Order: sequence, then structure tokens, then C-alpha cells
Amino acid sequence: MDKIIIEGGKKLQGEVQISGAKNAALPIMVSALLTDGWNTFENIPDLVDIKTAKRLLKSLGVQMEGDGALKINASQIDNLEASYELVKTMRASILVLGPLVARMGRARVSLPGGCAIGARPVNLHIKALREMGAQVDLVDGYVEAKADRLKGAEIFFETVTVTGTENIMMAAALAKGKTVLKNAAKEPEVVNLAEVLNGMGARITGAGTDTIKIDGVEGLHSVTARVMPDRIEAGTFLIAAGITGGDVTVCGCDPEYLDALIAKLIDTGMEITSTEDRISAKRRGPIRSVDVRTAPFPGFPTDLQAQMMAYMTVAEGLSAIAETVFENRFMHVGELTRMGANIEIQGHTAMVKGVPRIKGAPVMATDLRASASLILAGLVAEGRTEINRVYHLDRGYQEIEKKFSALGADIRRVKV
Ligand code: EPZ
Repeated sequence: MDKIIIEGGKKLQGEVQISGAKNAALPIMVSALLTDGWNTFENIPDLVDIKTAKRLLKSLGVQMEGDGALKINASQIDNLEASYELVKTMRASILVLGPLVARMGRARVSLPGGCAIGARPVNLHIKALREMGAQVDLVDGYVEAKADRLKGAEIFFETVTVTGTENIMMAAALAKGKTVLKNAAKEPEVVNLAEVLNGMGARITGAGTDTIKIDGVEGLHSVTARVMPDRIEAGTFLIAAGITGGDVTVCGCDPEYLDALIAKLIDTGMEITSTEDRISAKRRGPIRSVDVRTAPFPGFPTDLQAQMMAYMTVAEGLSAIAETVFENRFMHVGELTRMGANIEIQGHTAMVKGVPRIKGAPVMATDLRASASLILAGLVAEGRTEINRVYHLDRGYQEIEKKFSALGADIRRVKV
């Protein structure tokens, strides 16, 4: 288990290239299951979750070559079961359910189980497949689904679900007739996936709105496509500029993906300028506290809540941070408190009272984005911060300590 050691107090300066988005790459890689030729997906990030997704696809009989430009061929699927061993390490594995039922007529996928940030049920994925005519049973912790051919249906998601929308959009692409998804997720990663599916010959309109229409087709062909940049990685670096009082430009990311964050960062006193694929952020004056409420896109992303909280621990005043998407996404509060932050949890809201400084300490990462918030806190803390269990970090950030070091941070990874 590696750990990351940071000597705080350095202002970050410079440019950082944003990697491909984990949460776009995962559903795009899985979409290859719908085709029977060689697909090429570019800008795939080098992450632990991507390696897990490759192992999962390989276990189904999918052939793969390459890394950043990944070639995937699903013409020889010879196994329709996604095992618990694989699914328990990455809940997004549930994304193979829709495509396997649509293309092969059957699938047996382990229930993902909860994770640190919540129960993470998949009931809406299952409900939608049943509405499309699939027979779905829960047997020994596995979802067993079968359908001779899925039928188009009108589906209303009672809760906005990103992978739920993606799973059913992929299933509907090969269903007989028309499917309409209502209260669909509007995340940019859903739009990226829809573009890839349409490139394969699917007929999808409305991606990016809350109503997505899919006209099922008989078959899909392979495609060459590109994964969008990671807006959460970009947001993490913008917040890093704020917390250290530096001046950072993130390259390769569309500012449109980060409207909610940028508006908040300006309210904290940062200056933000952007072009179509670069965002520059700097802070000169004091940090003003702001209130944050997470919400589905285009609201403030839950995946940036922990990072924003780290920033607010050293702001002037009181900041109310409400987490509305997941029921238990405040694990970072205990660790930040150990560094001297003043945070009180009241239900789904963390009341953060800014303090003049926080102090480095040994802390422990609990989930992907919480670990990023501990890095941000370490960058501004007085003295040394040691972050343990950084395998959480490696799931979603490509060489993050090298990128922070290139911006002037005193940060290094130590093999334990
Ligand atoms: C995706 O998870 C992301 N993961 C998450 O990123 C992200 O935090 C989340 O969307 C919200 O934006 C990927 O895209 C691989 P949801 P997902 O289904 O799809 C409830 C990261 O750090 N729900 O949109 O699993 C659920 O419990 C990860 O990169 C049901 O009740 O999230 C939650 O409260 C963390 N039943 C809410 O909906 C269902 O069947 C939103 O979850 C499905 C979801």
C-alpha cells in the first residue's frame, strides 16, 4: 500500500494536461459488447478502474489490444457472467448488464454491493430492464436477466441515475422499437456515450437533456471514437489553485462542463478566465466562504464536494455543504477534522467554519474523491501530511502526485 507525503505551503503555478474521463471511458469500453468488430477508443486514461474494466471484459471473451488508444473486439463473447470477484472492486461493472442482455439475450451479473459512500442500489437498472420485457431475477447475490429480444418502452427514472441511464440507453440501442428515457441523467459522460453509440449506428436523440429517445436497430458496427476529458480531475486542479493561492491553467477541458464549480470559485474570490478548452484560475485575496449543494448535472457535482469542503476549511466564515446525491459521502470530514478543520455534520449538511490554518497529520483515504480532498488539504496545511491507502486515489486519478509536483507542490509517493 503506497502513501503520499506532502509538505504544505507551496503556491501552485503552471499548466496541467487533463486526462480522459474515467466515468466516460468505462461505459464507452463496455459499449463494445454491442458490436462484433474492432472498435478503437482514444484518450482512455491509465487508471486502476480501467484495468479492472479490461479484466472484466476479457473474462467475457472480449479481445483487446493497446492502452491509451484501446482496440476492443466483442465478436467472440463466450461467457455471460460478471463475477463477484470483479464486480465487488468496481460497481460500474453493472454496466455490462444491459449490453449483454441486448446482444446475447442473457446475462448473470453480480450485485455490486455497497461502497464507502452509500448502499448504491441498482434497482432502477433492473426495473427498466423488466419494463423492456426482460425476465430479471436476483439469485445468490447475482442479477440473472434474459430476453429473446428487448422491447422499446417508455421509462421514467424516479431518481436521476448516471449509470442507470447509460445501461438502459445501451440496451435500448438494440431493442425492438422505440424507447424513451424520462428524467434521464444529463451528465456530459452520457452525451459522450450517446455520440459513440450513434457512431456505431444507433439512433439516439436528446442525450444531455432529461428525455432521451432511442430507436432500436438490428445491429451495431464498430467505431473509432474519443473519450472526453475528465471534468472532475479538472475541477480538482482548479480548487487546488484556490486553496494554495496559486495560478493554474487546466488544458484540454471544456469550461462548459464546470459552470457550477466555476461560479462557486468566483464567489470565493478567485479569478477564472477560459477559452474553449483551457481554464485559468488564480486567487490573490482572502478566501470567502460559500454554500454548496450537490445535484445532478448541471448542478454542483457530488464528485467535487469533498474537494470543495477542503477548500472551505480555510475560508473566512461559515460554509454549508449539502450532499443530496449520496447518503454517506462525508467520510473525509473526520480526516479533515484531524488536521484542525472545524466541521459539524447536521444530517446531509456539513457546516464548515473556516479556520486561519490547518496542520499536516497522518490521514487515511476512504474513497476516491475523499482522497483528493486530503491532498488539497495537505497542500495548504502547515507541515507534513501523510495520506495512507492511496489505492483509492489510483482508481480515478492518473499519476496525480506527478501532476501536482509539476505545478510546484512538495509531494511524493512512498512505497510502503
Ligand atoms: C456515477 O455513479 C459515477 N460513476 C459516480 O462517480 C458519480 O458520483 C455518480 O454517478 C453521481 O454523479 C460512474 O459514472 C462510473 P447514480 P452511479 O446511479 O451511476 C441512487 C466517482 O467518484 N440510485 O447516478 O452509480 C444512488 O444510490 C464515482 O467517479 C438508486 O437508488 O450513481 C444515488 O443516491 C463515485 N437506484 C443516486 O441514485 C439505482 O438503481 C445517484 O446515483 C441507481 C442509483
